Amino acid sequence: MKNIGVLTSGGDAPGMNAAIRAVVRYGIYNSINIIGIKNGYKGLVESNIVDMSLSSVADIIHRGGTILGSARSKEFQEEEGFKKALQNIKYLGIDGMVVIGGDGTFRGAQQLCNADIPTIGIPGTIDNDLPYTQYTLGFFTALTTVLESVEKIRDTSSSHGRTNVIQVMGRNCGDIALYAGLAGGAEMVIIPEVEHNIEEICDKIMQGRARGKKHSIIILAEGAGDAKEISELIQEKTGVGTRYSVLGYTQRGGAPSAFDRLIGSQMGAKAVELLKDSKSNRLLGVKGNQIFDMDIEKALSVEKKFDQTTYDLTKILSI
Ligand code: F6P
Repeated sequence: MKNIGVLTSGGDAPGMNAAIRAVVRYGIYNSINIIGIKNGYKGLVESNIVDMSLSSVADIIHRGGTILGSARSKEFQEEEGFKKALQNIKYLGIDGMVVIGGDGTFRGAQQLCNADIPTIGIPGTIDNDLPYTQYTLGFFTALTTVLESVEKIRDTSSSHGRTNVIQVMGRNCGDIALYAGLAGGAEMVIIPEVEHNIEEICDKIMQGRARGKKHSIIILAEGAGDAKEISELIQEKTGVGTRYSVLGYTQRGGAPSAFDRLIGSQMGAKAVELLKDSKSNRLLGVKGNQIFDMDIEKALSVEKKFDQTTYDLTKILSI
């Protein structure tokens, strides 16, 4: 293993830089040359690369985003683009790839594996929507960002005696909403995994008000409905002033949390270690505080198990 290519693809996530830094520094420590590929698979198709030195990754462990840039490349998925990417891999002498991203990135990783390019995947997405791993890189930072907003919105919700619907990201996965609901003490979470009942939500708001509660915070996962429609419906049914906020891209940026820096560093090093030991076609994951690796096909066939316990607890605790 002389040359390893590294790229970040799909939506960026805090902690990606920590992972890139670890790939570069652990690689060089093991006398392996690291080639940075710019803008995800697009850079592989266009041969847009940068040689990574020890100092090229200085001062990035604490920075959000990705210094390599990211993109969602259609060309790579098409025959012609993929052929170009393979030619570039051969031409550049890349012996193995580390790809950092979410499910789209891992479909690209599967393509590479099927073309006999040794590849390791690091789960980097704020969505936490990769069922084979307990947590993904960036999830806890995004959660902290959401909680900061929830707290600010609760202040104004109390002052005005309103209901506030806060829409968070997550694509089709409700984890950001669910965990933010529990950690932020929301009155209710609306997530794609559970069909919501607007009457039940309104009853809960009215019961809280009858007990003298001044605010109501509803956290809505983007995959579970439209914030404007839901807040208008709640206002109509309860007669309580209801506002909505869509947190949007603030959730993707910012300095990574301690946890994301740690797992980013550990997974970056582990990816290089696996390739060095001629182990490939594997995805890395986190269980408890342990990093593990799993065959890519097996990992991607794991089905999402809904976290009913956390959902129930959120409901019980939010009287
Ligand atoms: O996958 C991360 C994510 O931020 C999702 O939560 C969101 O649905 C999507 O990316 C937004 O994608 P884009 O950056 O293409 O607008």
